Amino acid sequence: MSPTAIDPQPVPPVDLTAERAELGEAFFEISREVLGSNGYVLGPHVTKFEEDFAAYQRAKHGVGVGSGTDALILALKAFDIGPGDKVLTSPFTFFASAGTIAWVGATPQLCDVEADTGLMDLRKARAAMTPETKCLLPVHIYGQLADVRGFRALADEHGIPLLEDAAQAHGAERDGLRAGELGDAAAFSFYPTKNLGAAGEGGAILCNSDDLNGRLLRLRDHGSSAKYVHTEVGTNSRLQSLQGALLSLKLKKLDEWNGRRRATAAKYDAAFAACDAVTPLAVRPNSTHAYHQYVIRIHGDVSRDLVLEGLHKAKISAALHYPRPVHVQEAAATWGYKLGDFPVAEQLCDEVLCLPVHPFLCEEQIQRVIQEVIQQAQGPREV
Ligand SMILES: Cc1ncc(COP(=O)(O)O)c(C=O)c1O
Repeated sequence: MSPTAIDPQPVPPVDLTAERAELGEAFFEISREVLGSNGYVLGPHVTKFEEDFAAYQRAKHGVGVGSGTDALILALKAFDIGPGDKVLTSPFTFFASAGTIAWVGATPQLCDVEADTGLMDLRKARAAMTPETKCLLPVHIYGQLADVRGFRALADEHGIPLLEDAAQAHGAERDGLRAGELGDAAAFSFYPTKNLGAAGEGGAILCNSDDLNGRLLRLRDHGSSAKYVHTEVGTNSRLQSLQGALLSLKLKKLDEWNGRRRATAAKYDAAFAACDAVTPLAVRPNSTHAYHQYVIRIHGDVSRDLVLEGLHKAKISAALHYPRPVHVQEAAATWGYKLGDFPVAEQLCDEVLCLPVHPFLCEEQIQRVIQEVIQQAQGPREV
């Protein structure tokens, strides 16, 4: 028996060691340069990254902030969203998409998602609109863009801003557009596990309006328009220089790394096509998926949780994003929803399983994931 069969090597969800190795000495050189300098917060490295990243996403302006959560909060604040307002978002997302709406004093309003992609359903969004709905916040879940043109049109019909939650969608495209091109603002996260990750926390807001950009620059720095001049109340959410420098370095690799994610996804798609219990989430035509996550649904009489357990036993870091929808979380108790309100999101939470898809998987790891998933999906059954 081969050593792999006895003691399989782990297949991790991310591989920062491999990422650093590929970046080589440049990663440590730039870190040494910044840490040996006289400035650790904002500064030329952050400005350069803001310009580079905005250009990459084809937006006019970029504002580096402390996290993806802050990017959402500051964008909502810049749209003057607050108490009495509702913001429409998805129940099938990381809690921050909705939690930030409540954090600025507004009320999250939810609408169900498409069963085959998990993306916010434009028709259901249209039906959910009320006079209190003051902003649309579709989530580009897993790295696939929602119907940005459709959401843009809906926002325009109601004269309200479109804020894209692009925390998982660096480099993704749909209908020739990237996140930040058509939205009034797009919020990105650079959490280390993201397709473009910092060496710590980080985020950015992209926009195309000079006025909005000015407002966001002030809001991230205590409403300051000049040193010790505060035109409004803001917060401290300034991107660190080290993160700006490292993110500029990694941005050069993003297309290549996203391409590798897509190549792995294509192998998974092909392998699972013949497996009845496994259905990969769909990719819309004219979409370039960034595959922050590669997601399958396990259904029929096969237990998703037993498949997950089997994969973990085989040291494959499969994961559940997300095991519970937003509206059934304790923190959402006062938002007016209950179990049963968003059946598609609820079913997806019961069925989805995310497989490792990071750019540093070797062929052997990819084949092992495929074999184990097929074996597990053909094995354990609900009792
Ligand atoms: C969809 C979505 N929105 C917002 C966030 C918040 O980003 P951060 O963790 O950088 O605050 C995340 C982070 O995972 C996310 O996945």
